Amino acid sequence: MERTTTPNRAALELASVARDASTCTACGLSETRTQAVPGEGSPTAALVFVGEAPGAREDLAGRPFVGASGRLLDDLLASIGLRREEVFVLNTVKCRPPENRNPQRSETAACAPFLTRQLQALQPRVIATLGKHALAVFAPNAKIAEVHGRPYTQTEGGQQGGAVLFPLYHPAAALHNGSLRPTLERDMAALREHLNADAREGAGEATLREVDSVPTRPRPRTQGEAE
Ligand code: URA
Repeated sequence: MERTTTPNRAALELASVARDASTCTACGLSETRTQAVPGEGSPTAALVFVGEAPGAREDLAGRPFVGASGRLLDDLLASIGLRREEVFVLNTVKCRPPENRNPQRSETAACAPFLTRQLQALQPRVIATLGKHALAVFAPNAKIAEVHGRPYTQTEGGQQGGAVLFPLYHPAAALHNGSLRPTLERDMAALREHLNADAREGAGEATLREVDSVPTRPRPRTQGEAE
């Protein structure tokens, strides 16, 4: 989809979402949060990562992915020639669920207008979901084990506008289950391959510039490694 907004307008709307989220009381998570974590990154990002929900560190910092998962996300980004500032990172819900439990459907639904506004402001070419809960927001019937690591096409019900949905495992899953890490690395390489193909087709977005110096061939799976 061609971008129809300006960087300035996108930045203003993203700041407005952040302000509105900081005072939001649409669900019970507002009662236990330290502060909302609206997300951050480049207002012209063509690639948006959607995580699940802020954890304890994010709740304190007011920024997404600042803990161990965030460090792995940064490493994965570096492996495909990208820095955090070149993409946009946000979550399906903007406030931390207590005890780091999964967000409930009612909480995701209450927060959906913020996600919608952010995606409408950013108009990304690719939305990379991190983990099964983020995937479920866009593709409720998709199973991450079946669809990760390649563009996901759905015929109806998609909320991602003109963006391509690219499901990935959550970095935390790879930290808990080491066998998922090579899978996630291979999926990131596949994401880079997709970005390169998009850039070659003339998308012309700075953040999607072609990068030659990273592996674009998925390496073969080793025995016992998760799919
Ligand atoms: N996990 C998420 O899904 N989001 C964060 O911001 C941090 C950890």
